Amino acid sequence: MKYRTDDIMPPPIVKLAEAAKRFIKSPGFLNLGQGLPGHIPPDDALTILKDRMSHPATHVYTPDEGLLELREELALYLRQKSGIDANPQDEIVITAGANNAFAGAILTIVEPKQNVIMPSPYYFNSVMAVKLASAEVREVPVGSSFQPRVEDIEAAIDNNTRAIFIISPNNPTGAVYEKGTIDGIVDLCIQHDIMLISDETYSRMVFDDATHYSPRSRRDAENHVVTIGSFSKDFGMSGWRVGFTVGPTEFIREFLKVQDTVTICAPTAGQILALGVLKTGLDAVENELRRLSLLRELAYLRMREIDAFEENYTKGTFYLFPRVKGCTDSKKLVMDILQSTGTLVLPGSIFGDAGEGHVRISIGPLTPEAVDEAFDRLSKFFKED
Ligand SMILES: Cc1ncc(COP(=O)(O)O)c(C=O)c1O
Repeated sequence: MKYRTDDIMPPPIVKLAEAAKRFIKSPGFLNLGQGLPGHIPPDDALTILKDRMSHPATHVYTPDEGLLELREELALYLRQKSGIDANPQDEIVITAGANNAFAGAILTIVEPKQNVIMPSPYYFNSVMAVKLASAEVREVPVGSSFQPRVEDIEAAIDNNTRAIFIISPNNPTGAVYEKGTIDGIVDLCIQHDIMLISDETYSRMVFDDATHYSPRSRRDAENHVVTIGSFSKDFGMSGWRVGFTVGPTEFIREFLKVQDTVTICAPTAGQILALGVLKTGLDAVENELRRLSLLRELAYLRMREIDAFEENYTKGTFYLFPRVKGCTDSKKLVMDILQSTGTLVLPGSIFGDAGEGHVRISIGPLTPEAVDEAFDRLSKFFKED
């Protein structure tokens, strides 16, 4: 039978996990592939959820747009942390994770054969979502320090462009986009009357002197920006499937048609937990960010000892995305590393052609000892290679 999805690549992580199955089960396996933080939601938030477990309302749908109390709390949080001014009544929808928010935004905005511009390397699920909508991705390779170049993005815009999609802080590169770059992209969107979809899944994970800049904080941009966020990474809630989208009222009205069709609403228990996290758990998240900051320092320090890696230091997330000298087939390299060291990193090529020659090393859930052990193994591998 012919399926609409025939031409869409299978999720690369699932394919890789299949190929790596027998290693993943072996003792001593180290996983630096998963995009997960090391923490779970704080205890006070879990207690709030436990107390609500026997309440009938926890077990039924919420409104399509999510619990009003959560949207109100989220609006306060976004104002405080990202300078976003959004009305919880009609400018915010709680979604089943950021992936749900992005796919919904694409189905709301982009018609078949239209295109979405994406700096690459990209987050592969975004490409899959655009293809599911029978639309096209126009990849624009990033420049130095993994920053997109506004002039390259401008050159990619044509009459069929409906949106530009950016992720900052970025998966897979960890780059925190500069304010000037984001403003330049916002200007293009206003000028061409297209939408900027801004994925801010890792908004709290910025380190050193970097700051997160949310384009929706620009008042003149509110009609041209859709913000996407998640409770998966900053708050350690990936299994609960809670994210959100913020956009102009008109967009939200249309988005809800997709939302009601596809998921109705985000999981109710997850929404209650998210509310608990916003109300009681922000300090715990700060502690976690301090832990991650130290872990990043250690990982970069250890990476510098390995000649094969060309470092490109970035200030966000828990991903390192070094180029490997002489590597032209990162999938083969990753399988070789796995086979000889029992350590999984991800091949850069699954994040698009611009990622070839790189590997993505995720340190989010590791202890400092495990980071040391992983780099000991990588060091040995490249010495013997
Ligand atoms: C940039 C980016 N957006 C979205 C997601 C998906 O997040 P969620 O779990 O909220 O669907 C991820 C997960 O890795 C991601 O890296």
